Amino acid sequence: MKNPSSKTAPGQPGWETPFVPFARPSIGPEEEEAVVAVLRSGWLTTGEVTARFEAEFAAVVGARHALAISSATAGLHLALEALGVGPGSVVLTTPYTFAATAEVARYLGADPVFVDIDRATLNIDPVLLETALEQLSRAGRKVSAMIPVHVAGLPCDMDAIGHLSLRYGVPIVEDAAHAFPVRHGGRFAGTLGDAGVYSFYPTKSITTGEGGMVVTDRDEVATRIRIMRMHGIDRDVWNRYTEPGASWKYDVVAPGYKYNLADLASAIGRVQLAKANAFLERRRSIVRRYMNALNGLDFLTLPGWAENHAWHLFIVRVNSAALKMDRDGFIAELQRRGIGVSVHFIPLHTMSYYRERYGLKPENFPVSLACFQSAVSLPLSASLTDDDVERVIAAVVEVGAAFRA
Ligand SMILES: Cc1ncc(COP(=O)(O)O)c(C=O)c1O
Repeated sequence: MKNPSSKTAPGQPGWETPFVPFARPSIGPEEEEAVVAVLRSGWLTTGEVTARFEAEFAAVVGARHALAISSATAGLHLALEALGVGPGSVVLTTPYTFAATAEVARYLGADPVFVDIDRATLNIDPVLLETALEQLSRAGRKVSAMIPVHVAGLPCDMDAIGHLSLRYGVPIVEDAAHAFPVRHGGRFAGTLGDAGVYSFYPTKSITTGEGGMVVTDRDEVATRIRIMRMHGIDRDVWNRYTEPGASWKYDVVAPGYKYNLADLASAIGRVQLAKANAFLERRRSIVRRYMNALNGLDFLTLPGWAENHAWHLFIVRVNSAALKMDRDGFIAELQRRGIGVSVHFIPLHTMSYYRERYGLKPENFPVSLACFQSAVSLPLSASLTDDDVERVIAAVVEVGAAFRA
């Protein structure tokens, strides 16, 4: 049977072998039609389609406000800004995340302070978070926000983090880039703090090409984000060129940013939003197949099954003691067999910028370091065919057999 997601290219990993992509968006004729309709409408950038996307998204997650933005990175920046994060203050997060989560603190002159993760969940360890809050408050540092990251789509322990937020008076911005659509205790991840940010990057559970959404129940936070995502302009002026009686007047109340989402992208987002549950079901069934097939292999530790998991990523851990090679060798062998894999995450405290600026050493966050050294993300997206999944399983099993210690 022909494998529709197979690709071969000379010189690429997987040449002469069908290639299973690490992630590939699921785009159908509905998304194409929605984009064509916007192209023909005469209005391409932020407008009515984006307003509808926001209203629909807010209704799905049960948030008072949803604001479409050009990326989750932009959303994290806007959320921190709206919550008053400023120079000299501290933003708490983990090193086990993508660059975006910590860089936004630096945009605002704040310092990210890292807290290590829990080995089983890869999420921020609430006990260590409490220790950090205690130490920083004793040292007289102002902690202006904390950013728990729902790694791979598994919600953090938001009950514990919520208690700490109340006790220390520190607002929460959830990095829910991986965590749509998934609930924690009945409410959607991303709606459990003061603000939450989703990513619509092409590998994510739904995509707009590039894009994201900030949600909040706090009116003043939403108002500030709405102004700052559009140059600091005091009101919506998107219709000033097209509506007959629209006022051309506006004021600039702050030096804002250009972080709006275009209608072209929102049109894709609206269609994807309607498919989100179906995509999640497909991801779940792939994960179940991986779990059944790979369970019991002594060279792999699988993630625990969780119902409330968005399964953006399927991160396994390689027990290199059971193999004649390390994690990097394991990745190379999978790639040689045409399997697209990735690593989540190279901890931020090992990156030269943070290492040098804050004098950090790899061993400062031992759990993050150990998880990174053994982590491999296997292909996972709703567009994977059953054939792709079987190919991944066969490659993993074959590498394990060929390189047994
Ligand atoms: C945990 C996390 N946060 C934030 C982002 C940033 O998302 P975006 O590319 O939409 O800015 C990513 C991107 O992959 C991510 O993995």
